[in-house]
Amino acid sequence: KSRKRKLLFEVNEKAAARYFDFLKNNEKGAEAARKYLQNRGIEDRIVEKFRIGYAPPVEAAGWNFLGSTFSQEQTRAAVETGLLVDNKKGGTYDRFRDRIVFPIFNIAGQVCGFGGRIVGEGQPKYLNSPESAVFNKSNLLLGLFQQKESIRRHNRAILVEGNFDLVSLVAKGCENVVAPLGTAVTREQLRLIKRFAEEATLLFDGDEAGGKAAARAVPLFLAEQLAGKVALLPGGHDPDTYIREFGLAELSRILGEAKDLPEFVLGRLVEQFGLGLDGKRRIVEELVPLVEAAPSPLQRSVFLSHFAQELGMAVEQLEQFMAAPRD
Ligand code: UTP
Ligand code: MN
Ligand code: MN
Ligand code: MN
Ligand code: MN
Repeated sequence: KSRKRKLLFEVNEKAAARYFDFLKNNEKGAEAARKYLQNRGIEDRIVEKFRIGYAPPVEAAGWNFLGSTFSQEQTRAAVETGLLVDNKKGGTYDRFRDRIVFPIFNIAGQVCGFGGRIVGEGQPKYLNSPESAVFNKSNLLLGLFQQKESIRRHNRAILVEGNFDLVSLVAKGCENVVAPLGTAVTREQLRLIKRFAEEATLLFDGDEAGGKAAARAVPLFLAEQLAGKVALLPGGHDPDTYIREFGLAELSRILGEAKDLPEFVLGRLVEQFGLGLDGKRRIVEELVPLVEAAPSPLQRSVFLSHFAQELGMAVEQLEQFMAAPRD
């Protein structure tokens, strides 16, 4: 079993090396990909730091770029990690083609899988490795291997949504950043962060999906007893577009104004339901699971008094309401 894992890591490592080499050294085949990265502000230093590579298109390298250098045993392993796809005729072909590929490392620096972005326009925009014996998205964070020392120094991790948010921020000097892999934040990911920092700030896209994702993460922060904040970007921006348009100082200002979790949640609810009588009732209903997720009686009463004050209610009234059976 451990021999098998070793083999899977070995083919991932070899693939990362070949994608990286192709991006760096293939004069013509990787020209568009290098240009694309340059246009997005990703310099060589960042490419090297994250070992960003390029999976060539069929026109440049055929359908078996990776497979051509694998042994039979490695080919089987590569099918298992999803780098190669079985063509049902006894052969294989490359899963990743014409994509910028980001190796996804575990804390030990082993390559567990890949995330690939199409160069320019196309569908799907992002393609990730399928789950395998070495790739479980929910307990990995993109960038943690590279940025963990910075996260430790700041005693804080900044969580962004995507690959380019991560590398763009690091390129511009905001270093203590990690990204979940295009999925909801998980408890395992928060536990990983806790190994290096006591606090995390969510910096998601300034759209409805980003707000929702942040709100969904709140109970997990409470359950894991990780201190959290939520920073809000103006509509239409993500961290990458924001830092490239306005710079590091402006992003730092946004991060400095990040809201505490209960404040963030309540703010969203007030926006959604208003502070009329019926609105308040709905808001209190929505707050019940949050208060219930509070890990200690102290935390619970801190929440209750904060919410009561903001809603213009007496704490006892709020408590009573929350204790009432719901249908
Ligand atoms: P976004 O949809 O916000 O990416 O998804 P984006 O900002 O438009 O991408 P760029 O900037 O043009 O490159 C955020 C993240 O969610 C994951 C990716 O990690 C992406 O960076 N994602 C998104 C997927 O895994 N699959 C998808 O189909 C879309
Ligand atoms: Mn710093
Ligand atoms: Mn988005
Ligand atoms: Mn983006
Ligand atoms: Mn985005």
